[in-house]
Amino acid sequence: MNSSNGHAARSRVLCPEKLSSDGLSLLRKTVDVDEKEGLTPEQLIAVIPEYEALLVRSETKVTAALLNAARKLKVVARAGVGVDNVDVPTATKLGVVVVNSPSGNIQAAAEHTIALLMSMARNVPEACASVKAGKWERSRLVGIEVKGKTLGIVGLGKVGLIVARMARGLGMNVVAADPYAAQSVAAAANVTLVESLSELLPRVDFLTIHTPMLASTRGMLSTAELDQMKRGARILNVARGGIVDEEALLIALESGQIAGAAIDVFTSEPPTKDPDSSAARLVQHPRCIATPHLGASTVEAQENVSMDVCEQVLQILVGDLPRSA
Ligand code: MLT
Repeated sequence: MNSSNGHAARSRVLCPEKLSSDGLSLLRKTVDVDEKEGLTPEQLIAVIPEYEALLVRSETKVTAALLNAARKLKVVARAGVGVDNVDVPTATKLGVVVVNSPSGNIQAAAEHTIALLMSMARNVPEACASVKAGKWERSRLVGIEVKGKTLGIVGLGKVGLIVARMARGLGMNVVAADPYAAQSVAAAANVTLVESLSELLPRVDFLTIHTPMLASTRGMLSTAELDQMKRGARILNVARGGIVDEEALLIALESGQIAGAAIDVFTSEPPTKDPDSSAARLVQHPRCIATPHLGASTVEAQENVSMDVCEQVLQILVGDLPRSA
């Protein structure tokens, strides 16, 4: 399309969430980028018809209603691994390409998992709060060592494998369940691959989840599964909210079946929006460590994902194919 002065009009890109400036600066050389944080779903639907590309992280829900309103949209770019906040079937039906960054933040997610694992083992958040409150509770805050303990990994994909290698470095035994993982890949990382979740659960002292959110993984860890774990085992979720059933986990913490939980992701974020929800009560539980979906939040990871998706958006807007989808 040509503008009134005869020059081709620049494509317009909407970015309704905070994205690292590296990729955005690259885009701005060729297209117009509008950073508009805090739009409601209705406001987003009102402005989307003006844009050829939409750049999101995890907060924006790219629904069928939004996509149907997006008359010029060519591409939705998800600055992260998961595309579960994008209605991909509707986008595909409308001819809108969905791109992501399959590995830009995997190191960050794995490092956050290990940070939470160690924090939980040594009561770091509680100890910090206690000292700040003027207390000196050395005997109340005795922790456990992770060396010699068994870490169970559900999902031995890119993040799961990095977590496995780091855990081996900490002296942990690592056992994983993943129907898609190759035995040779697991063996190379010194990980014992088991056939099923039921085989994994009774063996582990710590359990960490690294699967995408799919119909088959939603609520995958609920009461029946938590009951199969050793009494006093600990659990981490830096993958997606809802893979571990929040109500079931809360009950298991209250009964002592699960001794500790470290949770970065929630079914509905922020979980405290509804203070009566299981997730909000889980966050308040004294043996639950909670972080606000920080798995991918490092300077390095945000630069990586921003560059990854902005390069792909540029290729699509100037007519080339994306590197991945
Ligand atoms: C991801 O899917 O990679 C993360 O959820 C990204 C993010 O934190 O926005």
